[in-house]
Amino acid sequence: METGRLGAFQIEVASIKTAHLQLISHSPEQTQRLGTSLGKLAQADDVFLLCGELGSGKTCLTQGIAWGLNVKEYAFSPSFVLVREYYGRLPLYHVDLYRLDHIEEIANLGLDEYLYGDGVCVVEWAEKGLPLLPQDNLLIKLSYLSQTERSLTLETNGTRYSQLLRSLKPEMKTWNSP
Ligand SMILES: Nc1ncnc2c1ncn2[C@@H]1O[C@H](COP(=O)(O)OP(=O)(O)OP(=O)(O)O)[C@@H](O)[C@H]1O
Ligand SMILES: [Mg+2]
Repeated sequence: METGRLGAFQIEVASIKTAHLQLISHSPEQTQRLGTSLGKLAQADDVFLLCGELGSGKTCLTQGIAWGLNVKEYAFSPSFVLVREYYGRLPLYHVDLYRLDHIEEIANLGLDEYLYGDGVCVVEWAEKGLPLLPQDNLLIKLSYLSQTERSLTLETNGTRYSQLLRSLKPEMKTWNSP
């Protein structure tokens, strides 16, 4: 538990609800490396929500997450496939909401078994369904900067993800080759 002093009073921070980490990736490999670190640290029931335009690197990041979970047979799937299941150290449920335009369609998909299940659930195009997705999550916003550069912002919602972000920091030393 963290403590801080404010005047004469001892303030206790019971939980850190939201923290941010901003990164610039300079190559697809760096984005994959971030994903691999997240996959290594992931626990059952984790939810990673990926938001960002076409080509911003969501699938590239997910591929790294799969590797970090020791998924052997990850394959890029066409975006009309709504849910892909992979099996590594934990199951990985890769949900892609790209094709869905109405929130009612998402509500009818029966995603709860993936979102609240025994595996790690990664949702691409999560911005299309945010009100229906778990409030505790790691929200990753990706955006295109140049042909080879992407900005990635990690936002933690809930104490599990603050803890994940803290564990990620020592992993960052492994990312710095081109
Ligand atoms: N730094 C980078 N990080 C990630 N991808 C990069 C980077 N630089 C270039 N790229 C390229 O950008 C493309 C990203 O494609 P990807 O399929 O991961 O995007 P996406 O966000 O999943 O798109 P979509 O919305 O169509 O599913 C790939 O061709 C990848 O090689
Ligand atoms: Mg994609």
